[in-house]
Amino acid sequence: MKDRIVLPMVRPTAPQRVLVTGAGGFVGGWVLQGLESVQLPCLEIFAGMHRGETRAPMKNPIRIDITHPTEVDHVIKEVKPTAVIHLAAISNVKEAREAPRAAFEVNLQGTMNLAESVLRHCPQTRFIFVSSSDVYGSSENAQNGKLDEAAPLDPQNTYAAAKAAADLSIGQMAHDGLKAIRLRTFNHTGPRQTERFVVPAFAAQIARIEIGAQEAVIRVGNLDACRDFLDVRDVADAYIGLALSSSSFEPGLVLNLGSGAGLRIGEILGQLISRAGTEIRIEADPARLRPKEPTFIIANPSRIQHLLGWKPQIPWAQTLTDVLAFWRGAVRNSSDPQEPFKHAKGQSS
Ligand code: GDD
Repeated sequence: MKDRIVLPMVRPTAPQRVLVTGAGGFVGGWVLQGLESVQLPCLEIFAGMHRGETRAPMKNPIRIDITHPTEVDHVIKEVKPTAVIHLAAISNVKEAREAPRAAFEVNLQGTMNLAESVLRHCPQTRFIFVSSSDVYGSSENAQNGKLDEAAPLDPQNTYAAAKAAADLSIGQMAHDGLKAIRLRTFNHTGPRQTERFVVPAFAAQIARIEIGAQEAVIRVGNLDACRDFLDVRDVADAYIGLALSSSSFEPGLVLNLGSGAGLRIGEILGQLISRAGTEIRIEADPARLRPKEPTFIIANPSRIQHLLGWKPQIPWAQTLTDVLAFWRGAVRNSSDPQEPFKHAKGQSS
C-alpha cells in the first residue's frame, strides 16, 4: 500500500516549526514520514531523539533527554516550535511495571519539563500530548461499553498511572495558558512496531515459523482482552492534522483517538494465523500474561470525528497484512531471525 496522508483539517497559512519528541520510536517514525509527505514550503520539522535512539539520519535531528530540564529548556528556546507533538515516553506496560520510577520520571516529569519550557519560551505553541486510553482503566462501566472523554480516569497499571498523572498535569497547565491538546490514543499497530506489543509479537513468530526458525507453536498471552485498534498511519495523520490545523482549540482539550470498535486479541491471532503459509499450534505462555487487566477498552471517537473530520482510512485487514509482510522481510533478511532488531529502550512511543 502506498503511504499517504489525508488531512482535511490542515490549512496552514503561516510558517510552521513542528518538534516531534520520541522521533526515533515507532510512532515517531511514521509521524516524521507523514510530516515530510505534507510538502509545505512553510513547514520545518525537528526530530527530537533520545541519545539511545539510533535510527537512520533524519532532517534536523535534535538530541533531547526530556528528563533533563535544562537540556529541554535549551532545545525549546533554540527551536521555538509552533507545535510540539510529544511522543517520547516509556510506552510499554510491562517495561513500566518493571521500572515504575523511570516510568514516572519519563512520562510525567519529562512531560512537565517540556510543557514548562514551552510556557516559558513560546506560550503560543500548540502542545500535543499523547496520552493513552489506558488512563480510563476499563470501558465496562461506560455508556454502551464505549469510552467518551467524560469517562473517569481509573488507571490500573504503572504505565497508565504515569500517563494519567501527566494528562492531569497538562490539563492543569492549560489553565495557566498552555495551548494543550490531550490525545487519549487507543491501541495502534503497524509495520516497524516492536515485538513487545501484541500484533508484532504474533506476526514475528509466524514469520519465524514459516522459515523454520521456530517450531510451529505460537506463544500467546491473554486472548480474551478486547481492544480498539487503529493503524499507526491513521494515528500519525491525526497528530499531524492537529499540529498543522489553523483552527483554534480550547486549551486542555481532550480527544479520544480510536476506531470505536473492539477486537478480541484471540480474533486478531486467528486473522494472522489464517495468513500463515503453514499449520500453527497455539500455546499459552504464562510469561506473557499480566497480573490483572481490564477485558474491554473501546473508544467512543465521536468528538474527534466531529471536530476534525478525522476518520481512519486504512482497513484493519490491510494493517495485519502489512505488519506480517514487515516481519517476513525482517526475519528473512536477518542473520539472527530470533532477534532481527536491537531495540533501544525508553523514551519513544
Ligand atoms: N504485548 C503482548 N504480547 N500482549 C499480548 C500478548 C503478547 O504475546 N498476548 C496477548 N496480549 C494482550 C495483552 O494482555 C493486552 O491485553 C493486549 O494484548 C494488548 O497488549 P499490547 O499490544 O502490549 O498493548 P497495551 O494495550 O498494553 O498498550 C498499548 O496500547 C495503549 C493504548 O491503550 C501501548 O501502545 C500503549 O503505549 C498505549 O497507550
